[in-house]
Amino acid sequence: MNATTLRPTVTHTIPAEGHSRRVRSLRWEILRTADEVITEGTFHYGPQTERLEELMRDRWGGHAVATTSCTQALMLALTAAGIGSGDEVVVPAATFTATAFAVSAAGAVPVIADVHEPTLTLDPASFDKAITGRTRAVIPVHLHGHMADMPAITTIAKAHNLTVIEDCAQAAGASLRGRAAGTWGDYGCFSFWVGKTIGGLEDAGAVITTTPERAELLRRLTNMGRDTTDRHLHHVRGTRARLGEFNAGIVAVELNLLPTWLKRRRQIADHYNRAFAHLPLTTPVTLPEHVHALYKYAITCSDADILGTHLANNGVQAEQVYPYLLPDQPAFSGIEHRSHVTAQSQPAAQRLCLPAYPELSDDEVDHVIHSVTTFYN
Ligand SMILES: Cc1ncc(COP(=O)(O)O)c(C=O)c1O
Repeated sequence: MNATTLRPTVTHTIPAEGHSRRVRSLRWEILRTADEVITEGTFHYGPQTERLEELMRDRWGGHAVATTSCTQALMLALTAAGIGSGDEVVVPAATFTATAFAVSAAGAVPVIADVHEPTLTLDPASFDKAITGRTRAVIPVHLHGHMADMPAITTIAKAHNLTVIEDCAQAAGASLRGRAAGTWGDYGCFSFWVGKTIGGLEDAGAVITTTPERAELLRRLTNMGRDTTDRHLHHVRGTRARLGEFNAGIVAVELNLLPTWLKRRRQIADHYNRAFAHLPLTTPVTLPEHVHALYKYAITCSDADILGTHLANNGVQAEQVYPYLLPDQPAFSGIEHRSHVTAQSQPAAQRLCLPAYPELSDDEVDHVIHSVTTFYN
């Protein structure tokens, strides 16, 4: 990567996301995992799932329970916390709809609060204002891999006796003051969908919680309310949400590679930050005491649409994430909710994400820089 001698040397289109490349690069590990599962003959709650849960515990702390997605993880956490009909749960305006859909699916009402700059995560002041006598929980989202203001959010939650469920779908590997994403709240919900920084071959997820008892309840909930010891005894109303051994094994392989991949993400982000420092755009920040998981490299600029088109014409796929705030999604016209969203959250709809994943070659990184720079020149 050499920002001083920029030449457009790449002739193919650079995809917005790198997971197809990642999966291809792990072909042999994935096939070996499939072989291990076939040999073992156990397809759920076996050695691969145990290994994944142990690895999560070793890396991040807490007690991990594997499940089929982060959407499911959020629903399991809400159910385990006893949240349902008549309850309200505060969520941020800028997130994937799953954060609020899970609240609604659990029978509770999503209450949408503002996000704040520079991270576009839940604004503690807006969260505080949104609390009523019916509020039972809050779901801060660690957007793009940067954690929300957890010290402020947990302080407010504690004062109102609220459950804290962290949406860590985008934040595997993020931390604040040395404490991992997912271990600040009562529950931390992860997505291991193939398109995240680490994932299975398709959908996967996990919940981290604070005690073995809570983990046991969550595990029962993934298994139709049963323990793994007696398949005919249902202790609680559960659901079908157990992660298969094959996907669990792949996620475990990728969790071991995460530190190396994060290093490369950071190297690319630092390189972009330096190259764009003189341009009229804002690069992603990492606030003091935070480790950013860099799931997305999101820039803010006044003409994101036109820049996006220019990049596409230069073979660079860039994506606006999230162009619609939750209350502006048509789905919410049919979903009971309350919105406290103001113009403060609007900048969230203007972020443009550049390709910045570990599988990019140095030439591709230089090509992205060249394409952004020529737009402004
Ligand atoms: C912030 C956020 N929450 C929840 C989810 C849902 O995750 P999953 O696709 O694993 O259900 C996602 C996934 O994209 C997400 O980005």
